Amino acid sequence: MTTISSPVLHRHDVLIVGAGGAGLRAALEASDGADVAVLSKVFPSRSHTGAAQGGIAAALGNVDDDSCEKHIFDTVKGSDYLGDQDAIEVLCSEAPQTVYELEHLGVPFSRLPDGRISQRPFGGHSATRACHAADRTGHVILHTLYEHCLRKEVRFYSEYYALSLIREEGSVEGVVAWDVVHGGIHLFHAKAVLLATGGYGRVFKTTSNAHANTGDGMAMAYAAGIPLEDMEFIQFHPTGIYKLGILITEGARGEGGILLNGHAERFMERYAPSMKDIAPRDVVSRAIYREIRENRGIGGKDYVHLDIRHMGKKKILEKLPDIHSFALTYIGVDAIREPIPVQPTAHYAMGGIPTDVDGRVVVDDKGTPVPGLYAAGECACVSVHGGNRLGCNSLLDIVVFGKRAGRRILTDIGGLGMPGPAADVADAVCLRIEDLLSGSGEETAAGIRSLLQEVMMFRCSVFRNEQLLREAQADLARLRTRYAGIRIMDRGRVCNTDLIEAWELGDLLSLAETMVAGALARKESRGAHFREDYPDRDDENFLKHTLVRKGAEGPEISYKPVVITRFQPRERTY
Ligand code: FUM
Repeated sequence: MTTISSPVLHRHDVLIVGAGGAGLRAALEASDGADVAVLSKVFPSRSHTGAAQGGIAAALGNVDDDSCEKHIFDTVKGSDYLGDQDAIEVLCSEAPQTVYELEHLGVPFSRLPDGRISQRPFGGHSATRACHAADRTGHVILHTLYEHCLRKEVRFYSEYYALSLIREEGSVEGVVAWDVVHGGIHLFHAKAVLLATGGYGRVFKTTSNAHANTGDGMAMAYAAGIPLEDMEFIQFHPTGIYKLGILITEGARGEGGILLNGHAERFMERYAPSMKDIAPRDVVSRAIYREIRENRGIGGKDYVHLDIRHMGKKKILEKLPDIHSFALTYIGVDAIREPIPVQPTAHYAMGGIPTDVDGRVVVDDKGTPVPGLYAAGECACVSVHGGNRLGCNSLLDIVVFGKRAGRRILTDIGGLGMPGPAADVADAVCLRIEDLLSGSGEETAAGIRSLLQEVMMFRCSVFRNEQLLREAQADLARLRTRYAGIRIMDRGRVCNTDLIEAWELGDLLSLAETMVAGALARKESRGAHFREDYPDRDDENFLKHTLVRKGAEGPEISYKPVVITRFQPRERTY
C-alpha cells in the first residue's frame, strides 16, 4: 500500500479555487486589502474562460438603441422566468460599467469605425449587445485579468487539484489539495474560500468544455453537505463542430450566419419566426434535433450546416478568425467556401452552488450563509440564468459577480479568524488517495467515464422523459458500484493523471446523480429542461428552484421560491 506523507501546510487570508475569469476578478478585488492565493488545476491562462468566443453582453447602445431595462427583460425571458429578478437586475445594470472597467484594464475590444467598442447581435438579445474582441473575447479577458493579478502580487498555486473543503462547525476553513506535478497532499487554511471552478460539461459525451471541466467546486460543496441549485438545467449550445463538440460561436450567426438542414432550408424561420437563427440556445438546439429526428439532417445524418459563406472572406477573417481556423484545423472545412457541419454540444451549467449577489454561499431559502465560503462564475447559481442562459451573459456573470464576491470577502474578512489545524479532513483524503492508488479491481476510470458520458448524452440531454431518466438513474447506480472496483494503472505520484481522472470521475458521478434527480422531479418543460412527457411549462407547480442535498440514500430534493420583482411569467415566443 502506498503511504501518503504528512500534508504541507499553507495559510492565506483568502483562498480562491479556480483561475478563470471569476476567480481572477475576485482575486484582483480582494488583493486590495488581503493576502490572496489562487489555486488552479491548470495553469491560469489555460482556464476555460479562454474558450469563450463571442462576447460579453452590456447595453452600451453603440450600434442600436439599447437600455439596461431591455437587457434585464431579455435575460428574465431567456431564463424562462426561473432567474431571480433582483439578481438579474444587478447583473444587467452593472454591465456597462463592467465592460468599461475591462477596457480600462486593457482588454483589446474590437472597435467600430468611430473608435467605440464594437457590438454584435447575439441569441435571445433584442438589441445589438455583445461587446467582443473578434471571436476571442474570453481569451483576452482572461489574459488581461491574469496580468493584473500578477501585478498585484496575487500568489498562484498552479496545477494543484482541490479535493475537499475543510468544514468545521458549519464554517469553511480551507481546502485539501493534491499537487499535480510533484504528488502529495497540501492543506490550505484560509479565512475565506471562494470556489470559482467552472462547470461540468465533461459529464456528457459531446461537449464544448475543456477536459478540466469536471465540476470540482460543485462536487466539493455537495460532499460537504451544501445543497446544489437547479442542477437539471444544462445548456446545449446549438453549434458544436460535428462529432467533436468544439464551440463555433453564436457570434457566427450574430454576424449573419444561417443554419441549413439537409434540404438546404433555413429551418429556424419555422421555429422562431422573429429571431430565427439567433433565438436563444434552448430553442435552437431543440429545433436542430427535431430536424435531425425528422430525417432532415445533412444526408440523413445527425448534423446540420452552419453557413457563413455569404459573409465573404474579408469579414470572416476579421470577425471570426478563430472559428475559421478551428473548422479548417479540426475537420478540414474552409468556412469561406463550405458550410460547417454542426450539432448541439453540452456547454453550460445554469445550476450550481447557491449564492447571494455578493458571492456568499447560502444553504436555504432564508439566505443563511456558510461562514467563510463564497462562490462565483459557472460553479455558482446566483441565479441569473434560471432555466436557460443567454449567450454573452456568462462572461458578464463572471466579471460582475467575481468582483462583488472579492469585495464582500474584504468586508467580511475582519470577522473571520484564521483557522487552526484540521487534520481529520486531510487524513480522510490521504486514506482515499491511498485506497485509489492501491486498488486491485478490474475497472478503469476511462472506461466508466465513457459509459457515464454516453448515459448522460442519450438519456438526460436535450430531450428527456420519465423512462429515459429512470434508465439513467439505474445506469448511474450500476456505474457507482463499478466505480468502487476501480484500478489505477499508474501507481506513482508525479503527474499522475490516472489518479486525478479517477477522483474526477467520482465527482462527475455525484453531479450526474443530482442532475437526473432534479430532472425526474421537475415534471414540466422550462428553458433547457425539456420533458417530452410534460411538454408545457407549469408555473403553478414548478415556478421554483430545485435544491438537491446529499442524503444517505442518494440525492434529496427540496425547493425554494423564485424572486419575481417586475416581470410576471408570460408565454415565451421568439
Ligand atoms: O457562442 C459563444 O460565443 C458562446 C458564448 C457564451 O456561451 O456566452
